[in-house]
Amino acid sequence: AAGPAPAQSASDARARMSRKPPARRGTAPGRRSNSVRIMKKVYQIPGPQTCGAWKRRVDLPTLPGMPNAKKRRIPKSAIRLAPRARLASQARQRIRARLLGWYAAEKRALPWRGEADPYRIWVSEVMLQQTRAETVRLRYPRFLARFPTLAALASAPLEEVLAEWQGLGYYARARNLHRAAATVMERPGEALPETRGALRRLPGFGPYMAAAVASIAFGERAAALDGNALRVLSRLLDSPAPIDSNAGRAALGEEAEALIPPSRPGDFNQALMDLGARICRPRKPACPACPLEEDCAAQGRGRVHLRPVRTAKTPPGEAAMFQLWAERRGTIRLVRRPEGGLFG
Ligand code: ADE
Repeated sequence: AAGPAPAQSASDARARMSRKPPARRGTAPGRRSNSVRIMKKVYQIPGPQTCGAWKRRVDLPTLPGMPNAKKRRIPKSAIRLAPRARLASQARQRIRARLLGWYAAEKRALPWRGEADPYRIWVSEVMLQQTRAETVRLRYPRFLARFPTLAALASAPLEEVLAEWQGLGYYARARNLHRAAATVMERPGEALPETRGALRRLPGFGPYMAAAVASIAFGERAAALDGNALRVLSRLLDSPAPIDSNAGRAALGEEAEALIPPSRPGDFNQALMDLGARICRPRKPACPACPLEEDCAAQGRGRVHLRPVRTAKTPPGEAAMFQLWAERRGTIRLVRRPEGGLFG
């Protein structure tokens, strides 16, 4: 258990807890809402201590096979049979040149751009995985000031790494970062491995992370497909395959691996991500400003608004949760959630 949290006053916390959840657009009265509902009861007990309990309903994703799981709208067989859109070799050359030209002029000014140290590149990618670039822009320099090298991170107590991660959420990322740093320090040379394949064996290195670090830090031709890049590719190819299915991602991944240039693969990956963030936005994409407009199949067929395709969302399941809190002299006692559990 962590100690008391002096920064949070009891009245602040109470005010936040009693705030009504926002009404969900389009939800009929009495129907299940997606937001968390809080039922609160505060007990005044003799002495300086207050104790409270609230029951809140959280929505959990429904997994296939659960009683209320709905059939997906797009059957897997249809995904497999969807024709794989591919680019002609000339189009690939043109796209590479135009995208890298656009990136040189329009890339976002972010503190990890131009960074050469693989450790620092890795930290930026871990932070960016589930946190907005604007938040990372502020927190990245602070984290590196505290842990300036891989060796410093590996030798720091986990508690200190988690404390520095506060506010960024998804703490499993910080645990994996710390664990992987310790693993790297046991290797000969005490340096990050330099290939996608070798990076994949470290904690926290999924397909995206391994490709991002391998391409940006070590210049390997590896396609790093985050949500922004997948959207751009799905539109560029006018792909009918859902990007949230393995088959859909594989279809786009195949073309992405062919598209990535032998030189500056890291810049190319980041250019795709920036294009998705700035131009090829989910809603209201700025197609006239896009350097790839001429080669964009969805734009040519008037289907940009229909791409990317996603599988039908299954309705969330429900679980009831009880939470308790204890206040004392204006402080609230905090207990860390178990690793691997909900919000852990
Ligand atoms: N999202 C994740 N990594 C990124 C990067 N290096 N540049 C832009 N967006 C990103």
